[in-house]
Amino acid sequence: MADTRPILFFDSGVGGLSVLAPTRTLLPQAPLVYAADSAGFPYGTRSEAEIAARVPALLGRLAERYRPRLIVIACNTASTIALAHVRAALDVPIVGTVPAIKPAAALSRTRVIGVLGTDATVRQPYVDKLAAEFAADCTVIRHGSAELVQLAEAKLRGESLDPARFRTVLDGLFGQPGGERIDVVVNACTHFPLVEEELDAAAPRPVRFIDGGPGIARRIAHLTGGQDWPGMPAPGIAVFTRLDAAAQTLAPAFARYGLERIEAL
Ligand code: DGL
Repeated sequence: MADTRPILFFDSGVGGLSVLAPTRTLLPQAPLVYAADSAGFPYGTRSEAEIAARVPALLGRLAERYRPRLIVIACNTASTIALAHVRAALDVPIVGTVPAIKPAAALSRTRVIGVLGTDATVRQPYVDKLAAEFAADCTVIRHGSAELVQLAEAKLRGESLDPARFRTVLDGLFGQPGGERIDVVVNACTHFPLVEEELDAAAPRPVRFIDGGPGIARRIAHLTGGQDWPGMPAPGIAVFTRLDAAAQTLAPAFARYGLERIEAL
C-alpha cells in the first residue's frame, strides 16, 4: 500500500509557500499540508517566550491530526527560536529554516551582506552564530521589517502594492553605515521571496537576493529519499488556526500552489 503520509509545512502566514514551491517541484507526488497560524500572525513582533510556547504546542496538534512523515518549519522566526523545542517535543523528523548567511558569504564580493528578516529573527543569537561561523570576514548588516511581511500577505490576497513602500523598507537596510557596499541580501523571512520581484525593482542598485527555499527543498528530498509516494498526489490542504474572511481571500493563491482544500484547525 502506498504511503500517503504528507509533508507538513508550517508558518505564521503565507511565507512558507516560498519553501513549499521548490519542494513541490522536486517531489511532485508528495501529499502536502500547509499550516498557517493565522491566529498567531505576525510572529515577527512577538516575544521569544510566546513563540517558544506556541509553536511546539501547535505542531503537536497538527502532527496528531495529519500524521506527517516530515515537518518543515517554513518560518525563520519560529525556527531560530523554537526549532530545538519542537525537536525535543515531537517524534517526527523536523526541518527548520535558518537565514541563508552561508551561501550569501560564498557569493559576496564586497564582503558586506544584508540580512532582511523579521524584528524577532534579526535579534536572535542564532544569527550571530551563523555570521561568526560562515561570514566571519564579512560585515553583516541587519534590518527587521514587519511591513514587508504585510506586503507579502497583501500580494497573495491579490492587492496592488505601492513600490514606494518597498523602497522605504530597503532604505532601512541600505541606509545603514556600510549599506552602500552590500552586494548580497539574505531574505531571512520566508515571506520575502514572495515579493522578490518588487524588492529587486526597489533596490537602489542591482544586488543579489537569496533565500533558503531551494536548499531546504533539496534537504527534504534527501531526507525522504527512497520513501514511497502515492501514484497520484492528493489535493493539498491549507489549514488555518483562524479561518476568517482574510484567510478565505487567500484561497485562489493557495490553489495555485496545489493547496485546494481549506480547513480550520
Ligand atoms: N514567515 C515568517 C519568517 O520566516 C514570519 C513572518 C511573521 O509572522 O512575522 O520569519
